[in-house]
Amino acid sequence: MRIRFTETVLRDANQSLVATRMPFSDFESILPVLDKAGYYSLECWGGATFDSCLRFLNEDPWERLRKIRKGCPNTKLQMLLRGQNLLGYKHYPDDIVRRFVKKSIDNGIDIIRIFDALNDIRNIEVAVDETIKNGALASGAICYTISPIHNLENYVKIARQMEEIGVSTICIKDMAGILSPKAVFELVKALKENVSCPLVVHTHSTTGLGYMTLLRAVEGGADVIDTAISGFSGGTSQPAAETLNYALSELGYNTGLNAEALDRIGDFFKDIRSRDFKSGLLNPTVLTTDAKALVYQIPGGMLSNLVSQLTSVNRMDLFNDVLEETPKVRKELGYPPLVTPMSQMVGAQATTNVITGKRYSSVSKEVKSYLKGEYGTPPGEIDEEIKKQILGGETPIEGRFADTLEPAFEKARAQIGDKAENEEDILSYALFPEQALKFFNYREGLKKRTFTYSFSLPESEGEKNA
Ligand code: CO
Repeated sequence: MRIRFTETVLRDANQSLVATRMPFSDFESILPVLDKAGYYSLECWGGATFDSCLRFLNEDPWERLRKIRKGCPNTKLQMLLRGQNLLGYKHYPDDIVRRFVKKSIDNGIDIIRIFDALNDIRNIEVAVDETIKNGALASGAICYTISPIHNLENYVKIARQMEEIGVSTICIKDMAGILSPKAVFELVKALKENVSCPLVVHTHSTTGLGYMTLLRAVEGGADVIDTAISGFSGGTSQPAAETLNYALSELGYNTGLNAEALDRIGDFFKDIRSRDFKSGLLNPTVLTTDAKALVYQIPGGMLSNLVSQLTSVNRMDLFNDVLEETPKVRKELGYPPLVTPMSQMVGAQATTNVITGKRYSSVSKEVKSYLKGEYGTPPGEIDEEIKKQILGGETPIEGRFADTLEPAFEKARAQIGDKAENEEDILSYALFPEQALKFFNYREGLKKRTFTYSFSLPESEGEKNA
C-alpha cells in the first residue's frame, strides 16, 4: 500500500500560522534536506505568498520561486491558484490568466492546484488548460463545505467535470477543518468509484479532526495527503508529517519518506517557531484546538470576523442573533462554500441584516456582483424574492464573467513602462498594482545604494588598512 505526502510548510503552514511572513532567508538552508525527504510535492508558492512577498517581505515572488527551484531540483514544486482570480481577489481576463500560469511553470512550478470558491468549473478551466499546455500537472481542488446540497452526488459531479477538462489529480480541499473522519471516508470511496484520477486530501487541524480525517482518508483510498512538518503543524495549520508518517508506516503503508530527513527538517522549523513565538509573529492561540466551527458549522476565521465586526460597533449582545442569521443568509444565497471571498460576504451580510433590523436593506457591492453572477454559478438556488429586491431591474449576466473582460496584459505593460524588467514584473503589476510598484521602487533604491557603496568601499578599506 502506497501513500504519498505533500509538505505545506512553505505555503499553507506559513500562511496559516504566521500570516505568510516567512522570508526566503528563513528556509533557504533547509531546501536541500526538503529535497531529499521523499515528498510527493512541496507546496511552496501561490495562495497568499505572492501578495505577501510584495506587500510585506520586499521580495520578488518570482525570484523566490526560482531560488526554491534551484534549492530543490528533485522534488515537484506545487502552488495554489484561485482559478480565474489567480492569486488576487477579483476575476482576471483570460490573457492574464494564461500568461500567469505559463510564467509560473517557466519559473519552476510542476503542479498547480486550482480551485474556485463556488466550485464553478468555468472559473478553473482556462487555468487548467494552460497548465496542461505547458506540460505541468493540473490538480482540480473541490472546496469542501457542509450544506443540504453538498452531498456525495454533488461532489462526484464536480469531480467528473474536473476529470473531463483534463486534471491529473483531484483534491478535496477542507479549508475550515470541518471534514470529519466519517465524511472523508465516504467521500473518498465515492470519488474513487467514479473518477480514475489519484485523490489528494487537504485539511486543517483547526477543530482537532485533522489526524483522524487523514487516517480515514488513507483507509478510504486517498493517494496523497497534505501535512506540515511538526514545528509548523497543528492548530490552523495541517497535521504533522512525522506523526502521520509514523502511524501510517506502522499500519503497513509505504510513505516513501525519509524519517531522518523529516527529523532534521522538524528541528530546523522548531527553531524558527521559537523565534516567531518570541517576536509575537506566531500567536499561540492559532496552535490550539477550537471546536466552535463544528458547533456552528462556520469556519473559525469567519467566526472571529463576526465577533470583531460586532465589537467594533459595540453590539456583541447581537452575537447569537447573527449566528442564527448566518445560515439563513447562506441558504438564501444558494449555499456558497464558506471560503474567501464568500465567507466574508455572507458574514458581513448577516451582521448587517441583524444590526439594521431590516433584512437586505443594505447590501455590499460584492453581494450585488455575486447576485449578478459575476462570481460564477452558486451551488444552489438564490432566493428569487431577495434577488429581485436587491437587483431591481438589473439583469444578471449570462455565461462566464471573464468573457466580458477586456484583455489587460498589454495595457499593464504600457502602464508600468520600464519599471518592469521582464514579463514577470508586468504580471506582478497586473495583479497587485500598488504593491508591485512599491516593490519596484524599493528594488530600484536598493540598486542605487549598492552602486554608491561600491564606490565608497575602496576609501573605507584604505582607512581601515591605515
Ligand atoms: Co489550506
